[in-house]
Amino acid sequence: MFNIEKIARPCITQGHTYVPGKPIEEVEKEYGITNIAKLASNENPFGASKMALEAMIEEMRTRIHLYPESSCTLLREKLADLFGLNPWNFFIDNGLDGVITMIGLTFLLPDDEVITSDLTFPAYRNITQKMGAKYISIPSKDDFSCDIDGIIQAVTPNTKIVFICNPNNPTGTIIGKDAFARLMNAVPDTALVVSDEAYFEFVQSTDYPDTIPYIATYPNLMVLRTFSKLMGIAGIRVGYAVADESIVKMMMKAREPFPVNRAAQAGALASLEDKAFFSKVLEHTKAEKEFLREKLTQFGFSVAESHTNFLFVRLNRPAENLYEKMLAEGIIVRPFSYSEEDFFRITIGTTEENRKLLSVFAKLLR
Ligand SMILES: Cc1ncc(COP(=O)(O)O)c(C=O)c1O
Repeated sequence: MFNIEKIARPCITQGHTYVPGKPIEEVEKEYGITNIAKLASNENPFGASKMALEAMIEEMRTRIHLYPESSCTLLREKLADLFGLNPWNFFIDNGLDGVITMIGLTFLLPDDEVITSDLTFPAYRNITQKMGAKYISIPSKDDFSCDIDGIIQAVTPNTKIVFICNPNNPTGTIIGKDAFARLMNAVPDTALVVSDEAYFEFVQSTDYPDTIPYIATYPNLMVLRTFSKLMGIAGIRVGYAVADESIVKMMMKAREPFPVNRAAQAGALASLEDKAFFSKVLEHTKAEKEFLREKLTQFGFSVAESHTNFLFVRLNRPAENLYEKMLAEGIIVRPFSYSEEDFFRITIGTTEENRKLLSVFAKLLR
């Protein structure tokens, strides 16, 4: 009899499946409601910039029958101009998820070790497991920030990749300049350091490291950025790595021929022009984040400072079915359990969505 377990690779049959934030469409169907606020996946609640939308529509209208430009030349040139680097310092893929998969595919062998923090973005664990490599997660510090010195101590000659998420998803914490410099000095060049900076635009702290210039001195560093968060085009999938040319060229060998579709390339290019729109979104996020943090604290939650567009909220009580009750009220957040405590990760939405969130909490916690 056909047995799928016998033919699939064991690291796939035994691996974790990524569970994304619950989609609006699912909640509409399950609960028979509309007007849902999705505050679960840290997207831009105002959507894409108008310039990006127009560029994507025009690209689809005129050229959708043609294969996309394989190596994303225009986008790589534009990014190179922006950062004062060479187009060969940029590897672009189908979202950062695609970039992370390609990092695993290009570099990980079964005996390799991958080190990261235990409370972080799950894609690092998933690709490690899919490649059959060894995943080592270092406990976070008491304030949920990443224990860089613990990571440094765990590095061995078998370490192939150290993933850091800065700012970190789901905790919103950052790794400061000194800790980042310590990490780069400590990791040998037989291992890659991957700094996932999906939320870098939201950081205001002066202690946040400017990592891209490090690439000149540390060719084993990769910096990851995405168009899915502030840039508002998560649905069309564009993410990129900034790295030494030798890394980019090696990863291009592993890459699929056309991973970034035409509309995505056009939308990403146009997004980079629309600075006015994004600075408004940043202003809004900052003001609403502080407002929400104060209000959520009044419900008895503990809400740490966040350097991102989301808050990591310790409920200080069992979540029980609060998450489901919120879904029924049209609010999607992201539940987490860590150290036997329950948390919600809540994206900063529009003003209207945030007020709805607070009124739903007020109703359910009465
Ligand atoms: C830290 C981090 N890295 C990477 C990703 C994936 O981003 P993309 O949409 O570019 O695949 C996310 C998405 O939530 C994220 O939070």
